[in-house]
Amino acid sequence: MNIRRYACAFYLLVAMIATMPVYAQKFDTLALTPPMGWNSWNKFACNVNEGVVRAAADAMVASGMKDAGYEYIVIDDCWQGTRDSLGFIHPDPIKFPSGMKTLAEYVHSKGLKFGIYSCAGSKTCGGYPAGRGHEYQDAIMYAQWGVDYLKYDWCNTENLNAVGAYTTMRDALYAAGRPIVFSLCEWGNNKPWSWAKDIGHLWRTTGDIAACFDCEVNHGNWSQWGVMKIADLEKELRQYAGPGHWNDPDMLEVGNGMSVNEDRAHFSLWCMLAAPLMSGNDLSAMNADTKNILTNKEVIALDQDSLGIQAFRYDSIDSVEVWVKPLVNNNWAVCFLNRSMETKKFQFDWSKNIITDTLSQRTLNTNEITYSIRNLWMKKNIGTTNKILKAELPSHDVLVVRLSQQK
Ligand code: GLA
Repeated sequence: MNIRRYACAFYLLVAMIATMPVYAQKFDTLALTPPMGWNSWNKFACNVNEGVVRAAADAMVASGMKDAGYEYIVIDDCWQGTRDSLGFIHPDPIKFPSGMKTLAEYVHSKGLKFGIYSCAGSKTCGGYPAGRGHEYQDAIMYAQWGVDYLKYDWCNTENLNAVGAYTTMRDALYAAGRPIVFSLCEWGNNKPWSWAKDIGHLWRTTGDIAACFDCEVNHGNWSQWGVMKIADLEKELRQYAGPGHWNDPDMLEVGNGMSVNEDRAHFSLWCMLAAPLMSGNDLSAMNADTKNILTNKEVIALDQDSLGIQAFRYDSIDSVEVWVKPLVNNNWAVCFLNRSMETKKFQFDWSKNIITDTLSQRTLNTNEITYSIRNLWMKKNIGTTNKILKAELPSHDVLVVRLSQQK
């Protein structure tokens, strides 16, 4: 009798498991540190074609950027042609005559990864066919092409629910079976930091960036923002970022028209903020200053630190801001940023500044531990925390140091 009962219960359990839906999820472990790469939008906007993409891939290798950690080559908006009679999307045959699979193979042959753009609405921001109602078909197509990264925008979404729309695309990607980094781009409208951790690997936190230090470019019903405006908006969001799920303050504008000081400050801040590092300039035509900024491995190491803790603004002393980021092995990164229009002389007495990060529960107390100091832009050791740090900072420039515990 008992055996029968057990057998019945066993078969019932098997039947229940067999009919259980397979819950989709995001591909974990794809972005344990912030993704690094290049995206066509900031420089080329809709003037993108396969020549531009191949040139970016070639230059990423030749310039040393690949060696510095950049890997994704991402085509932004305006690559789309039309959908066929079955609803499958195809690239514009004039801009991409070889097709996306061939282009992805070319990017892969360079040891890089291939990314593409679409949008949750009925049309992309540039007015091209977008994903709404075609999510599963598009995901199959991307998987067939060999896509490794998808940026998914938020134009023409009318009354769509953001959580639902992005979850649908996540599930479609998962069902297609190819691990693809999922980059949400809904500009922070629906506070994605509060719900997107299990949906995507990064989420835009603000509107679009502009290649200026502290400006607003007003387009009527929307604005682009300068580097400082975006950095200010990041301050409240640090508790939401971490390995596998990052705040995205938008792609880099290094090499797109700001001064060298400003480019250096912009890049340093993005690294302090553990931001995705998607270069947005013409990689095949960059000058030495731009290349040196984008490939500074010691600054990049702050961004790629495995703890994945976003920096916080500790203080502001006469327009010189002090940003602090805890790093592995009890190291710390400190970025002094001159926001003003004049050169500033400043000094920082480590012994009088016991800095506690309430988020990670770590404390920098140089009265207990002496650290050696390395200037990461000069690539020089500059003494220890036993001495007051004295420096002169040009307008809109930074001093970035790494503090390492003395052995
Ligand atoms: C939006 C995004 C940008 C870019 C454009 C493309 O504005 O925020 O990053 O992708 O669309 O049209």
